[in-house]
Amino acid sequence: MTLMKTNRRLVLARRPDSLPDASTFRRDDGAIPEPREGEFLVRNVFLPVDPGMRPVLSDVRIGADEFEPLALGALVGYLTVGQVVQSRDPAFAPGDWVTDILFWQDYAVTTALTARKFDPQELSPTTWLGILGVPGLSAWTGLITLAAPQPKETLVVTSAAGAVGSLAGQIGRNLGCRVVGVAGGAAKCRFVKDELGFDEVIDYRSVTDIGAAVRHACPQGVDILFDNVGNAMVDAMLPVMRRGGRITLCGQIADYHLPPAARPGIKNTNRFITHRLSMRGLFVYDHAAQFPQALGQMTQWMREKKLILSETIVPGFDQLPAAFARLFTGETMGRTIVRIDGD
Ligand SMILES: NC(=O)c1ccc[n+]([C@@H]2O[C@H](COP(=O)([O-])OP(=O)(O)OC[C@H]3O[C@@H](n4cnc5c(N)ncnc54)[C@H](OP(=O)(O)O)[C@@H]3O)[C@@H](O)[C@H]2O)c1
Repeated sequence: MTLMKTNRRLVLARRPDSLPDASTFRRDDGAIPEPREGEFLVRNVFLPVDPGMRPVLSDVRIGADEFEPLALGALVGYLTVGQVVQSRDPAFAPGDWVTDILFWQDYAVTTALTARKFDPQELSPTTWLGILGVPGLSAWTGLITLAAPQPKETLVVTSAAGAVGSLAGQIGRNLGCRVVGVAGGAAKCRFVKDELGFDEVIDYRSVTDIGAAVRHACPQGVDILFDNVGNAMVDAMLPVMRRGGRITLCGQIADYHLPPAARPGIKNTNRFITHRLSMRGLFVYDHAAQFPQALGQMTQWMREKKLILSETIVPGFDQLPAAFARLFTGETMGRTIVRIDGD
């Protein structure tokens, strides 16, 4: 395969004060690396944009054991999907499709230790960045491992039209829960109810009191809250939680931009005592032992059309910063993936 002349790379240029924009990143192109014995060179094709990258772009450590921020000048991005173009490992041939942590760049050298080979005839390559990637694994482990849903329980999912939220809600529905989604705007709400099959949906942009809206949609109360949004959302829903309720904190997209002192607090903590609630934070990779089970069950549901994910493919390497910024303005639905092999 013919290689490009240089390796386009995006690095962290400036820590964003608030929302990320084009000035957050800069191009830092380099030479295409060469594989050594046992290694192979991958050309990235699909690069997803993840809100989870936002916290490490800032340096807002509250304690010594917080995540290290990304260094200025460091490569950004995370998991990608691409094709092998040169190989010095007999188990990987040019043309093979792999998924690995190869960041926002055209080419990367890697090995069988971290790369996962897959057959693109079985499932489309982007499935490994969506249902069978971090969003699906976060939804499955955040709901099943941390919150143990039971049939007929009421589950509320925030950012319900997003990648993780849309999957968490469908998983809950597949397990027999009554599922209520919270999403922004009429189009997303229609999608959540009509296409994803949630029982109810609340447009949080059109209500003044989200707690009251959830109470109205869940007259018996909420057994499980799967939150992707942040402290204000959790606080508003605490008074609606039922006895023995479980809360999974998966993401805090509304709070990522705020310095710790400016983040909303959670005040309704008395409910934890009166209603024996528990709240657990998800770090998806803590649950790697369960990934085979999760992947098996989600593949089965996908084949039965019981698990779908809306995907937007944006062409062009230089679109990565704008696609990332759109996550925080509510313009995205499902998973956004940038395709970089056409330019
Ligand atoms: N804990 C883990 O291991 C783990 C793993 C993966 C992801 N995550 C986290 O899980 C969350 C979901 O990830 P995702 O990839 O599926 O992202 P996502 O939910 O698709 O994120 C984009 C959506 O977030 C919503 N949003 C943006 N700003 C908001 C605000 N200020 N208030 C309320 N909603 C806002 C918007 O939808 P609306 O228009 O509906 O508001 C937007 O379209 C993220 O916070 C991510 O960081 C955690």
